[in-house]
Amino acid sequence: MTRRLALFVGGAALAGIAGVMAFGAPTRAQQAGPAVADSIASTYLAASDTADLLGPRQPIFFRHDLHAGQFKMQCQYCHYSVNVSPEPGIPSVETCMGCHAVVAGSDSGGRAEIRKLRTAWSEKQPIEWVRVHFLPRHVHFPHQVHVAAMGPNACATCHGDVSRMPQVFKVNNVNNMGWCISCHVERQVTRDCTACHY
Ligand code: HEC
Ligand code: HEC
Ligand code: HEC
Ligand code: HEC
Ligand code: HEC
Repeated sequence: MTRRLALFVGGAALAGIAGVMAFGAPTRAQQAGPAVADSIASTYLAASDTADLLGPRQPIFFRHDLHAGQFKMQCQYCHYSVNVSPEPGIPSVETCMGCHAVVAGSDSGGRAEIRKLRTAWSEKQPIEWVRVHFLPRHVHFPHQVHVAAMGPNACATCHGDVSRMPQVFKVNNVNNMGWCISCHVERQVTRDCTACHY
């Protein structure tokens, strides 16, 4: 079973979504944006069928394959600081509620997950997302430098095609100095210890 955007096209929610999605002119980096292949119809998955998905289970079954894949939302819409700061940014509940104040979900599984989001919003609780990639504190990793230098496929080069992942998992072992160094050698970037270590 596949789901199509047409399922909720025509719903009252659409104008609101289109409005939010059209928000602001895309920046150069957004246009260059990461790999968003063709439109991908995501497979139906209930939160209860996720046992065999790779990656840590998240407190809400948030699907990149729907949002970034099927709906073609730009990564930067949510990871708002990835072009300008070392930290890409994780969206606040408010960012989600820009749509989900209206979009309630089209089946019981999706509705149950969206209800968790709305509860977090009404109780003013942040969502405790489980981090997938993280480096030890002594390592410095500037996202903005990599995104500027690596161009349109930057995210996918390191993270894989997240826009096809129902649940994010690690494609590259980022906690490995050898991984960093081998790309830096290949692309003739600095290997100075102090570039990466405080
Ligand atoms: C609608 C908002 C939204 C969009 C659009 C979005 N993300 Fe995310 N992303 C999240 C949220 C929320 C999390 C934390 C929960 C999770 O890991 O699924 C996350 C987590 C991630 C992670 C794992 C972070 C970690 O903990 O290590 C990666 C990598 C990522 N996103 C990459 C991308 C890429 C690449 C794109 C574009 C193809 C993208 N995201 C689009 C909201 C979004
Ligand atoms: C630009 C609008 C938009 C934003 C922003 C957005 N979503 Fe969604 N989301 C949607 C639409 C549209 C659907 C599909 C609803 C349906 O199936 O009827 C959806 C579906 C979902 C679902 C149900 C998935 C399923 O299996 O049916 C969850 C859970 C969800 N979103 C969580 C989030 C979270 C968490 C955030 C913030 C990190 C977020 N969304 C941000 C538009 C958005
Ligand atoms: C050169 C490799 C590389 C590229 C390119 C890259 N990332 Fe990352 N990403 C990483 C590493 C390494 C980490 C872990 C960083 C840390 O712990 O400080 C990470 C962490 C993240 C996180 C988790 C941050 C958090 O605070 O939880 C998100 C989200 C993310 N990346 C999104 C993106 C997006 C979106 C893009 C493209 C616009 C991108 N990344 C491009 C390597 C990369
Ligand atoms: C896939 C290739 C690739 C990987 C993997 C990669 N980098 Fe880079 N890195 C680059 C490129 C390209 C630049 C940009 C050089 C420039 O702007 O001239 C860069 C620049 C940097 C800089 C800035 C250097 C300076 O001159 O100030 C740091 C710090 C850095 N990387 C750390 C890391 C760390 C830490 C990792 C591993 C967690 C990593 N990189 C993994 C390609 C990569
Ligand atoms: C391109 C980025 C980069 C450069 C350049 C770099 N490192 Fe690292 N280094 C890392 C990362 C990422 C880790 C974390 C790996 C891990 O979690 O085990 C690390 C880990 C380490 C560790 C700890 C290993 C451990 O087992 O905990 C030492 C020691 C270290 N580096 C020394 C150096 C020295 C000395 C240099 C210069 C010759 C250097 N590094 C250059 C990225 C870099």
